Amino acid sequence: MSAIELMTPRMLLDMRRSCQLAADCLTAVGDMIEPGITTDAIDRFVNDYIVSRDAYPSPLDYKGFPKSVCTSVNDCVCHGIPGPYILKDGDIVNVDVTTYLPTEHGYHGDTSVTFYVGQPGDEAIYVVETARRCLELGIAEVKHGKRIGDIGAAIQEYAEGRGCSVVRDYVGHGVGREFHMPPQIPHFGKRGKDKRMKAGMVFTIEPMINAGGYQTELMDDGWTVLTLDRSLSAQFEHTVLVTRDGADVLTARPQVIRHSEDKPWAEVGPLSSPAAWSAKQEKAG
Ligand code: MF3
Ligand code: CO
Ligand code: CO
Repeated sequence: MSAIELMTPRMLLDMRRSCQLAADCLTAVGDMIEPGITTDAIDRFVNDYIVSRDAYPSPLDYKGFPKSVCTSVNDCVCHGIPGPYILKDGDIVNVDVTTYLPTEHGYHGDTSVTFYVGQPGDEAIYVVETARRCLELGIAEVKHGKRIGDIGAAIQEYAEGRGCSVVRDYVGHGVGREFHMPPQIPHFGKRGKDKRMKAGMVFTIEPMINAGGYQTELMDDGWTVLTLDRSLSAQFEHTVLVTRDGADVLTARPQVIRHSEDKPWAEVGPLSSPAAWSAKQEKAG
């Protein structure tokens, strides 16, 4: 017996709408990212965007979370709480948007992007582009009949091959009628392990990739998660549907997302570590 829900085509009509709303909201957030804005301004924008489209921001009051979106800056791994912090040149900020569209059956859509604030440093580029690629590689493993462990294995191999690490304490999750439901989707692991994916399963893939060690530390506010060694951390998240042909990315964005995908930095080569990459950049002058 498995508690993993399979979505029917009818359920997917509403699920797709929620996921597209979350994706469009994130695209709009890309237009406001610049040095000088506060993370509270992002929260207000996301709340207005979602509420004005007759939906609800899932994080708000979720297990007591006080805001409508998570904003995780620099060494914050995830679940950063928006506040008075002013984004500065060189910061990276992950904005994690989750929408609840209250249709006949309401569905949650969950997606996040790490943005560059102004001009990023080498290490920021390295860890962000590694995380971006990790999500792509994880999605490429999704297909009816393959194993959930195949996703984590592909992500871990790539991240560790680049001298980065994969967070263990927080994982992807089933999403739909509830914000978090089975199955869990670790971003590390072994090929051929764990349950088989089935057409109709919907879950998130959301690798958190650290420039240093994988360990995390929970702050006293009960939410903010930092890297234990205070190294940089980056994350990207999509909600995906398993099909017989592969993944259907429900939170895919039609537009290029500003202050993240509009940079040429995705070309960063397969080097072993942020330090090695910095050294090569210096030589290249
Ligand atoms: N959106 C996060 C995720 O990807 C969860 C945030 S929970 C919150 O699973 F309460 F912090 F919003
Ligand atoms: Co999620
Ligand atoms: Co999320």
